Amino acid sequence: MTFDRAKFAHAIETVLESHLNRSSDIAPHLVEAMRYMALGGGKRLRPAIVCGTCVALGGSMEAALDPAAAVEYLHTYSLIHDDLPAMDDDDLRRGRPSCHAAFDEATAILAGDAMQALAFEVLAAAGLVPPATRVRMMQLLASAVGCEGMVGGQALDIVATGGEILRIDRIVQMHAAKTGALFRASVQLGGLAAEPNIDEVRFQALTAFGESMGSAFQIVDDILDVTQSSETLGKNAGSDEEQGKNTVPAAVGLNRARAMATEAHERALSHLASLGLSDGPLRELADEAVNRVS
Ligand code: IPE
Ligand code: IPE
Ligand code: MG
Ligand code: MG
Ligand code: MG
Repeated sequence: MTFDRAKFAHAIETVLESHLNRSSDIAPHLVEAMRYMALGGGKRLRPAIVCGTCVALGGSMEAALDPAAAVEYLHTYSLIHDDLPAMDDDDLRRGRPSCHAAFDEATAILAGDAMQALAFEVLAAAGLVPPATRVRMMQLLASAVGCEGMVGGQALDIVATGGEILRIDRIVQMHAAKTGALFRASVQLGGLAAEPNIDEVRFQALTAFGESMGSAFQIVDDILDVTQSSETLGKNAGSDEEQGKNTVPAAVGLNRARAMATEAHERALSHLASLGLSDGPLRELADEAVNRVS
């Protein structure tokens, strides 16, 4: 199966632009901040995973675009809040000043809040997905970003910053929550967009694939923070060490971290093999999650 990543990226940009082609009489600066963050770069890996999963299972890319946008809004909101002074205190994101640096802290908090609401607004209105499936998608996505998922993982990250380095299994658990849960939901939403009545065994294999890819992705993110420049990353390199973050390289060293990323990638590929999807979009996206340089 040929996979045109550039075509996906273009379709995703177009749908994000269409949702955010709005202004506000109440707070024009808020919409400006949302547009600044949501339309200002980023690899768009998660929305590509939503679309790629849908296409891999025989669905159309179009059916997955609104769910893909919803995932990207939640991700972008998480980045806006992650960079705040009260959290990672980073002033560079996607090659430009972070939201609070370009606007102000209150606007950044509110832009993140509004983007979280936008995600569910867009998903609720996803016209190419049957209504009952949209409800299931909303539930999966909400639990992926709530206190058992992204926000829970972020809370553990913050409370553990600057203290003793956690045990590696606890760091892996934190990664699964703060990053893995949204990867898992990306794959699940793509699967449901293709097959609203997907077989439970296949759905579980997709779920496990998404979780493994998310683990690999966050370990690589931790590694890149140590090995790459701010210029390449488009965000503040070395920030983790400066803040005293619980990263995999801080806990076990770079070599072991690389081996753990490879192991998680291999787990992801074995789930793909069990689905009979070893070639195609999901293989390419799983490879991109670990082979990237930024
Ligand atoms: C950064 O994610 C946040 C993490 C979960 C590590 P990405 O590296 O996907 O960020 P963008 O969207 O490309 O900017
Ligand atoms: C963030 O992890 C995970 C999120 C849920 C945003 P990081 O704090 O490592 O992400 P970056 O490195 O700032 O992108
Ligand atoms: Mg963080
Ligand atoms: Mg951060
Ligand atoms: Mg990081």
